[in-house]
Amino acid sequence: MPSASPLSRRPAWRALVAHREALGEVHLKTLFAEQPGRHRAFTRSAAGLTLDLAKQRWSPETRELLLALAREAGVPRAIGRLLDGERVNISEDRPALHTALRLPASASLVVEGEDLVPAVHHTLARMEAMVTKLHAGQWRGATGKPIRDVVNLGVGGSDLGPLMVTHALADFRAEGSQALEVHFASTMDGSQLADYLGRLNPETTLFVLSSKSFTTIDTLSNARTARDWLLARLAGERVGMPAALVMRQHFIGVSASPEKMHDWGIDDAHQLEFWEWVGGRYSLWGAIGLPIALVVGMDHFRELLAGAHAMDRHFREAELADNLPVLLALAGIWNVNFLDIRAHSILPYDGRLEYFAAYLEQLEMESNGKSVTHDGHQLDYATCPVLWGQLGPNAQHAFYQLLHQGTQAVVCDFIAPLRRYDEVADAATRAHLKEQHRLTLANCFAQSRVLMLGDEALADGDAQPSHKRYRGNQPSTTLLLERLTPATLGALIALYEHKVYVQAVIWDINPFDQWGVELGKRIAGETERILAGRRGQEAMDDSSRGLIEAFWAAEAE
Ligand code: F6P
Repeated sequence: MPSASPLSRRPAWRALVAHREALGEVHLKTLFAEQPGRHRAFTRSAAGLTLDLAKQRWSPETRELLLALAREAGVPRAIGRLLDGERVNISEDRPALHTALRLPASASLVVEGEDLVPAVHHTLARMEAMVTKLHAGQWRGATGKPIRDVVNLGVGGSDLGPLMVTHALADFRAEGSQALEVHFASTMDGSQLADYLGRLNPETTLFVLSSKSFTTIDTLSNARTARDWLLARLAGERVGMPAALVMRQHFIGVSASPEKMHDWGIDDAHQLEFWEWVGGRYSLWGAIGLPIALVVGMDHFRELLAGAHAMDRHFREAELADNLPVLLALAGIWNVNFLDIRAHSILPYDGRLEYFAAYLEQLEMESNGKSVTHDGHQLDYATCPVLWGQLGPNAQHAFYQLLHQGTQAVVCDFIAPLRRYDEVADAATRAHLKEQHRLTLANCFAQSRVLMLGDEALADGDAQPSHKRYRGNQPSTTLLLERLTPATLGALIALYEHKVYVQAVIWDINPFDQWGVELGKRIAGETERILAGRRGQEAMDDSSRGLIEAFWAAEAE
């Protein structure tokens, strides 16, 4: 297998290597001193978002060279290929058409002879019918009582998107949703589900089984436990409802496999289907978003789609030099491949975005955590950095110490809404909350400044002992949302989706498959058979054998 990939032989790549050498260990404060008006020069806005890349450790020349790299790698053509439905997911030979899920009903997208838009909107209409019925208290459990609790059973893309968005948009609850609580259980160990089963009423609980493949053991294990819990309580001798009625009234299935849903026992009328051309981690825009629609209502759900679509249009139409996803992607390429920064922290300054980092961890690392090119060649450059995060204000009291004084270079994304709490009715509470929002933005802006300047952010700049020094020079991006609304959230998620795609195009990797998770699933299956059968461990390595025997010993106690 050849080791040198075409990317590192590209003229623009070589120019960037030389440019990196020429820049040397330039400090961010020097870059700012050399370029008045840097904020304006490196800031672009679209779809309710403002992206400030001025605190990246780069110069205007760096950006030009990166734009040349994007052109050489065919990014403009690749954007069209994605949005037009070409088979960009090469290893699975299919398109990746999450953007089709947010096309307006008036649009048309003909892919391989079929217009996809009518089917997308047919599914939205079916979701809407379910949402309306549940909000109106007309969806009744087997014993005739209205459903009050909905538990989403799913994992990965069938959990993280809906979980993140329902939290982010908690201020946008739909009127009829007040009587309904939406919960999420994802872990295969059953601990989250057990909590719900311990306190929810089976007569008024509905489960949404979300699984694109409908084979994921984590979700199917939870689903089996939930099914038996319901059947024992509602179809058992005491209550005596027919099992088929319990299954029909207490389960909705969301999957790309209607046959598997049917075989499992989901009533055909309560199945929401989606398509193989929607990747799991890109799927919140369709039927997998049902829990979102149950909380915020279909109008807000459609605004979320419209916001994402606005970003899709910007992605297709804007010049590369003004294109938010492209610029965000190029900053990432510069950090990873030329500054050798392999850690990336996501830091939202709004409690509503509590799950945003977890969502991006899957989006970025499952998409771009790859090390071979499309045609199977081993890469000779790095791809996706390790990405993690937490709410910024809380992380300040947890891991910011490392950002400020640790030995690692880390790039940070600061994310915050500019306006907040206008809708709070009580004037005194609104004033307090607005003050808290101002305090939060002060912290957000202060942190990126201190990370950039180090102790020089202090006006008095007194000499300090070394344990109190801040070297600064940590690059960061700041992303401002006009407000946190369904539309700006949609645009924000789409921005990161497209960033991931642009990076994948440049790195020549497939962001739409995830073969790296398969072996673990297979070996877990074998290990489970050994644990249950109490034999077969002899052939294993010494550590795994020891762990298995420890489990058996605990079981025997
Ligand atoms: O194992 C990884 C993965 O396939 C993710 O890509 C996906 O989002 C998750 O599992 C859940 O898959 P499914 O929706 O098919 O249950």
